[in-house]
Amino acid sequence: MGWREEAKKKASAEAVKHVKDGFTIGLGSGSTVAYAIQEIGKRIQQRKLRILGVPTSHQAMMLTVHCGIPMTTLNEHSQLDLTIDGADQIDRQLNLIKGMGGALTREKIVASATKQFVIVADETKLTEKLGANCAVPVEVLPFALPTVMLKMQEKGGKPVLREAKGKVGPVVTDNGNFIVDVDFGHINTPKKLDSQLKSIPGVIETGLFIEMADIVYVGTRVGTVQKLESK
Ligand code: A5P
Repeated sequence: MGWREEAKKKASAEAVKHVKDGFTIGLGSGSTVAYAIQEIGKRIQQRKLRILGVPTSHQAMMLTVHCGIPMTTLNEHSQLDLTIDGADQIDRQLNLIKGMGGALTREKIVASATKQFVIVADETKLTEKLGANCAVPVEVLPFALPTVMLKMQEKGGKPVLREAKGKVGPVVTDNGNFIVDVDFGHINTPKKLDSQLKSIPGVIETGLFIEMADIVYVGTRVGTVQKLESK
């Protein structure tokens, strides 16, 4: 296992320490949080914990089933005790860019429903400013695509419709929508940009997660795990 996988695994192990018996937990998407989901599954078997999971994507749901974690939905539990998820970029204020896996809308809904939002990542995800070498994924209603892309350009972005691999045409999300990756360069005011994008009719959700994360565990290349906490 290379250093990055080790780092992801160690960061996830720290996050799983927040799991308590009786918790209902939001389960994020991506390769880093997958280690946390596996660890939660192990703890349920070994310690007979009563845990319920709310997966944020088809990928997370399949892994949740595979790991033997009983599932529930926001219908039964509109408030969650804890959510663990990954991120694509993290700044010093713990603002995030998420959505490289295309699951950003459900991830943001689940994160908004949780008492504690914990992020797991390796050190390559840390940045001084969001947007450096990382476009902002935005979920868009297919009907609205042309006008949404035009308005994104007017706001200074360079939008690119995400193309699928193994299928011709665009990526279709778990919600039946498209993903547009918008390059804004360095983002000076992420909160403002998030609300500007959200104001475009046809935008379902953006991958800017502003002032949402409570704790970030960062696995480093030297084998340590850094804990960052929101102020
Ligand atoms: C999924 O849509 C994303 O928000 C993921 O959480 C993010 O891409 C992190 O994935 P990795 O842990 O695989 O880098």
